[in-house]
Amino acid sequence: MDIKEIQTIDHDVLVVGAGGAGIRAAIECAQLGMNTGMISKSLLGKAHTVMAEGGAAAAMGNVDKRDNWKIHFRDTMRGGKFLNQWRMAQLHAQQAPDRVRELEEWGAVFDRTPDGLINQRNFGGHRYPRLAHVGDRTGLEIIRTLQDFCIHKGIATHMECTGLDLLLDDGRVAGMAAYWRETGRFVIFRTKAVIFATGGGGKAWQVTSNSWEYTGDGLGMAYRAGAELMDMEFTQFHPTGMIWPPSVKGALVTEGVRGEGGILLNNKGERFMFKYIPEKFAAETADTVEEAARWGRGDQNARRPPELLTRDVVARAIKKEVEEGRGSPHGGVFLDIASQRPADFIKRKLPSMYHQFIELAEVDITKEPMEVGPTLHYFMGGIRVDCDTQATSVPGLFACGECSGGMHGANRLGGNSLSDLLVFGRLAGIGASDYVKKVAQGKIDESQAKAIVRRATAFLNKEEGLNPFVVQEDLQKVMQQFVGLIRSGEELKKALAEIQRVKKDIEDVKAHASPQFNPGWNAAIDLNNLIVTAEAVATAALAREESRGGHTRIDFPGEREEGVTYNVILKKGPDGGMQLRKEPRKAPAKELADIAYAKIEDLEGKKADG
Ligand code: FUM
Repeated sequence: MDIKEIQTIDHDVLVVGAGGAGIRAAIECAQLGMNTGMISKSLLGKAHTVMAEGGAAAAMGNVDKRDNWKIHFRDTMRGGKFLNQWRMAQLHAQQAPDRVRELEEWGAVFDRTPDGLINQRNFGGHRYPRLAHVGDRTGLEIIRTLQDFCIHKGIATHMECTGLDLLLDDGRVAGMAAYWRETGRFVIFRTKAVIFATGGGGKAWQVTSNSWEYTGDGLGMAYRAGAELMDMEFTQFHPTGMIWPPSVKGALVTEGVRGEGGILLNNKGERFMFKYIPEKFAAETADTVEEAARWGRGDQNARRPPELLTRDVVARAIKKEVEEGRGSPHGGVFLDIASQRPADFIKRKLPSMYHQFIELAEVDITKEPMEVGPTLHYFMGGIRVDCDTQATSVPGLFACGECSGGMHGANRLGGNSLSDLLVFGRLAGIGASDYVKKVAQGKIDESQAKAIVRRATAFLNKEEGLNPFVVQEDLQKVMQQFVGLIRSGEELKKALAEIQRVKKDIEDVKAHASPQFNPGWNAAIDLNNLIVTAEAVATAALAREESRGGHTRIDFPGEREEGVTYNVILKKGPDGGMQLRKEPRKAPAKELADIAYAKIEDLEGKKADG
């Protein structure tokens, strides 16, 4: 193929991914005068952002005036088991309230308090009601608002367009090769900067809240371009996914159900979470634990039921109940709001959950409990970025949202994803725009473009081969079985051996028919990124010999003191293999450490400065 025949499109900045982080980044670039393009693997607005249903965390203090950014920061660090990038957690907590208010100015219709402020609800690990929400459809409302706003900013939105790989000029970004899913034709974006906002890689597992798009595309492309991935072992299993019927297994049941009063029960009718309140305060947000224990002692003033311990704790508790024979008929536990709240309250506060269960499971949640179990929901790890600019180690490449790492440490608090994508989407837009102003457009290297096209078409140009969907399922089984909620060294080694086998199988994948409208070919291309994602998670998980947040090793129970002193960094080595190093972490700024370790009463109710 002559590369000159390939369509070329020019932008100053190309944003890859059109979920909340991508759109927010694109808006910022456009506002800063950049010729901005945004590509989306599916349709604009069809994004995992909508799966953050319960709200966006921001210390606005609308429901409890004692809240402020310092307490949000403190909760986030504690939830992340102190492995978060301190500066990112600081920026996030400080800027989230403005980002939420800005959304309101752009047209988001949040639920209100009786005195007309944006309403905020309780969520796991958050000291105060902090989640600005729109019933149980917050992510959807945020996406709708951003979509509407971005349309008026002149952003070129290229839908159903999948990125294949970056094009580099002397190590810096010069463009990106992609293809149109409808026609199968290739396209080259010539651009000075690329922002990845591609989400996670949940589709490497069988049971996930992620939809088909989430195949670790940004992770794979960044890794192949030489960027670093960090802390990939930290994957979040949301405690409450649907488990029945099988066709919707993994679909999210928002934490908002527990935030609005729902309780977890085993098959004996026991409210089992009381048994799982961590003894060691350091292992969990101390105040949350204390509050949960007070609740357990019947203290009517306690704010935190044990169902709102952090997600890692709740997910492990559910798994244990099931393993010990106290599970529900389909292998989960019961989530009951019907016995706790009146029907009209449930329908008003949780309308999507009500419809989801009626329509998909024929369960009326105002009358009966739901059956739920853990589902792979979110990647805490991701592409390593500079905390202030979101720049990666590849000049011209930026990353934000779920595909970037560092903000959430070992475990993300629910609600911190929506605020993360707003805060860091904006910062990535600023970072990329500043960079673009300083550099000239790089040259497109034809041989790189040809190699990318050849690699994609190789799946078509074969007499016979393996079915891409079968290979994807094979990989999902491996990850589900050996790289799940609870891990062991032995299983992780098995996983890595299996991943190497699947990697070879991918070379033998054959996609039938032409590139037009070809789901098999699309799935084959996705495998290139899924396999990097799977290998990165398993490799990092084997290296971290402790249990911390979303990463639990049965052979290394509990946190180790040294665990907080390093990040696990992965990079493509000169031989093409995945190289791992444990990189020592810098000590935090004193003022941040003081906040994170402060007594809560020393922070409460004070006007946040800084
Ligand atoms: O449960 C939920 O609504 C999910 C929220 C989140 O992941 O932030």
